[in-house]
Amino acid sequence: MTQHFYITTPIYYVNDKPHIGHAYTSLACDVMARYKRLQGYEVKFLTGTDEHGQKVEKSAMRKGIEPQAFTDQVSQSFRDLTKAMHFSNDDFIRTTEERHKKGAAALWQRLMGNGHIYLDQYAGWYSVRDEAFFQESELIDGKAPSGAEVEWVEEPSYFFDLSKWQEKLLQYYQDNPDFIAPKSRRNEVISFVEGGLKDLSVSRASFSWGVPVPGDDKHVMYVWLDALTNYLSALGFPEESAEYQQFWPADLHVVGKDILRFHAVYWPAFLMAADLPLPKRIMAHGWWTNEGQKISKSIGNVIDPLDLIEQYGLDQTRFFLMHEVPFGNDGNFSQESMTQTVNSILANNIGNLSQRVLSMIQKNCDGNVPEAAIQEEDLALLDISGLLEEIEHAMQTQAFCHALKRLVAFASDANTYIDHQAPWTLKKTDPARMATVLYTLAEAIRKLAILLQPFMPDAAEKLLDQLAVSAQERDFAALENSLVAGTALPKPEPIFPRVELKEAC
Ligand code: MSP
Repeated sequence: MTQHFYITTPIYYVNDKPHIGHAYTSLACDVMARYKRLQGYEVKFLTGTDEHGQKVEKSAMRKGIEPQAFTDQVSQSFRDLTKAMHFSNDDFIRTTEERHKKGAAALWQRLMGNGHIYLDQYAGWYSVRDEAFFQESELIDGKAPSGAEVEWVEEPSYFFDLSKWQEKLLQYYQDNPDFIAPKSRRNEVISFVEGGLKDLSVSRASFSWGVPVPGDDKHVMYVWLDALTNYLSALGFPEESAEYQQFWPADLHVVGKDILRFHAVYWPAFLMAADLPLPKRIMAHGWWTNEGQKISKSIGNVIDPLDLIEQYGLDQTRFFLMHEVPFGNDGNFSQESMTQTVNSILANNIGNLSQRVLSMIQKNCDGNVPEAAIQEEDLALLDISGLLEEIEHAMQTQAFCHALKRLVAFASDANTYIDHQAPWTLKKTDPARMATVLYTLAEAIRKLAILLQPFMPDAAEKLLDQLAVSAQERDFAALENSLVAGTALPKPEPIFPRVELKEAC
């Protein structure tokens, strides 16, 4: 029976064009989605844009454009990013689409129908940048904890009875220890909930750019209640279609640490209140800084992923982002570490391995996969059962950098094997053994390339093309296969050029 896997990115605010933070969240999901597909899962990988709310409305006003026209433009730049980064998303949802508005209204009606929403009056602080409500006691020097400005809001509002869900949430966290990751963030969420929950304002009445509250169009739904529903509306909710049944509950919501509370507290409470199953896991990643500084528009140090792709190459960028920091921790981007990673790992280790081996096969074996008489020392390199187990464990816990470090170590083992076996000497002393050594290396590169596909799909594809591996033999089941002696190989091309460190201006 086909197994299903549903993975989502947050949907991105369309107040501004995409930057490295957005690319990072989606990249992690893309790697995970590709990995699961290669394992044989039927995957739904969803991303999209969060287009309602005051923040987007204000950005549109500043540009002097109607919100719908503005969101059409900016949403397109997020779609363009998915193409530029070669993300393999199966769907792209916009909260201004009818299918979404229908889903959001349906969730509201369920909450209302189940008696969890009531009308009252909100008086308190609101941060437009965070799209979040704050109590006086939560403010730090008169600002939101994120540093964003707050404004006083006093208006009629519908409330969700969040305060009633404290015990149920805590029980759920306890019964499902892997529901929130990493551990440190899970603990933060638990102490937040233990501190007590207040009912949550879930509608706004002072502006109109949102999904109208069913039955009271003086109100629009609070943008977070609207936005979170995208994970359901993309499956056709409220209809219980085949897609909905296959993919809900979601296997993994990947989010940044700043929006964990919305996903790990509000979202499960809404779902419980609507009698819907909860997602299986919420993984929060850290934030990137640029050369040690917080990334911000006012400092002017926002990293555009398209610039990185142009300067270093797409797969190099993907590799760096996934390899540089353990997922979950904060990370720092610097030209120096990026250059160092590209040169020492990609060019000198993986690139050099494939270039050396494939050129030797071209020169000494007439460009055909050589005949092999495999010995124990060759099997030591080719037996990857331990490696596979470690990678699987790393991927299950979204330890992407650990999986990559193991793959890089495998490439290093292959390089050590070449130096040790010295096929250039065997050429004169024992050509049959040279053939076996080159075969073993080509096999190691094949396995490495298959396993690198989720992270660097283009480079892995080129490597597999250079080994004449057919399109049907590139999934993880094909790791069991072997190259066939006598297969003609194309002329090898270098895959990872070295890069120069860009001088700071
Ligand atoms: N619209 C909400 C999400 C709604 S999901 C139902 C939102 N959008 S966002 O565009 O502001 O942020 C999206 C993601 O980008 C978040 O996961 C956030 O953590 C991530 N990043 C924004 N800046 C970042 C860095 N500097 N570094 C890493 N990721 C960061 O929040």
